[in-house]
Amino acid sequence: MTAVKSIAVLTSGGDSQGMNAAVRSVVRSALFHGIEVYGVQRGYQGLLNNDLRPMDLRSVGDIIQRGGTILQTARCKEFVTPEGQQKGADVLRERGIDGLVVIGGDGSYQGANKLSKLGIKTMGLPGTIDNDIPFTDYTIGFDTAVSIVVDAINKLRDTMTSHERSSVVEVMGRYCGDIALYAGLASGAETILVPEVAFDLDVVSRRMKENFQSGKRHSIIIVAEGAGSGEDIAAGITQRNGIEARVTVLGHIQRGGCPTHNDRILASRLGDFAVRRLMEGDSGKGCGIINGELVVTDIDLVVNTKKPFNMEMYNLASRLSQ
Ligand code: ADP
Ligand code: F6P
Repeated sequence: MTAVKSIAVLTSGGDSQGMNAAVRSVVRSALFHGIEVYGVQRGYQGLLNNDLRPMDLRSVGDIIQRGGTILQTARCKEFVTPEGQQKGADVLRERGIDGLVVIGGDGSYQGANKLSKLGIKTMGLPGTIDNDIPFTDYTIGFDTAVSIVVDAINKLRDTMTSHERSSVVEVMGRYCGDIALYAGLASGAETILVPEVAFDLDVVSRRMKENFQSGKRHSIIIVAEGAGSGEDIAAGITQRNGIEARVTVLGHIQRGGCPTHNDRILASRLGDFAVRRLMEGDSGKGCGIINGELVVTDIDLVVNTKKPFNMEMYNLASRLSQ
């Protein structure tokens, strides 16, 4: 027995590595259980345009290793309006589709929440490099993005050491400093600047100067975009301590490329989990992983909660980077 006979899946908002693995998992898990499954092109925009196509086993072949999303993604202003949301729900009902899996970030979850309130059985999967969705330890794409940043910092270290310079690396994360935090700890960055923690450039500059005086030959400052621009931070530091700083903005490079095995496994587990929950009659939930266990949380709670920042990890990074 299953509570859904036909479901759809879409990817929305900023893409992330592992979204394809999640789509593959949703499609193949649904088909395995005899559930019809449709792919919506271009997120909520495609839903409003009735741009849905039936998916079969082969539609999701050869994608587990690919970044981006075969379903394409979009940002859709019309869907933020109540009329747009009603139209989206109507499209699904008219096509006889009774469940929807939304893979995306915070904004996409808001949309899923609205559809759920209109009676559509929805499940959210956290697909964003930012790791800013609460009630999950990790989002799909975060692990890959952090690996890309760490790899870039390894390279920057070589040249910064040769020239005895400091390197300011700006990474993504408008409201959440997790990419900066995890990549900063993993790469031994001297200073991590995030939107969640106030900082003082006088202190940062003084510490850097002292470290250079005690024999350090490079300095890595990692800054989340939400904490300030790399250019401004670098200029502020050099003005204070006279040490030459170079800026690297990693930008969208962080959102592309082959997903790590962690992201593929997370996406595969969560996609299958979402389908099984829909089959069991669950709806209006965000799926996540906490301490290795798959969990669901009311999507209303997910979108109204701010993910707590890991101060313990932040303090550890600070202690280890002297
Ligand atoms: P992300 O999902 O990566 O956070 P966005 O914030 O751009 O990306 O949101 C993706 C899409 O989700 C938006 O273009 C819009 O269509 C939809 N969305 C965002 N916020 C809302 C909202 N409050 N109500 C309904 N839909 C929303
Ligand atoms: O939300 C994911 C994210 O990559 C943010 O880290 C970043 O600020 C934003 O998307 C960039 O969005 P866009 O694709 O519009 O440049």
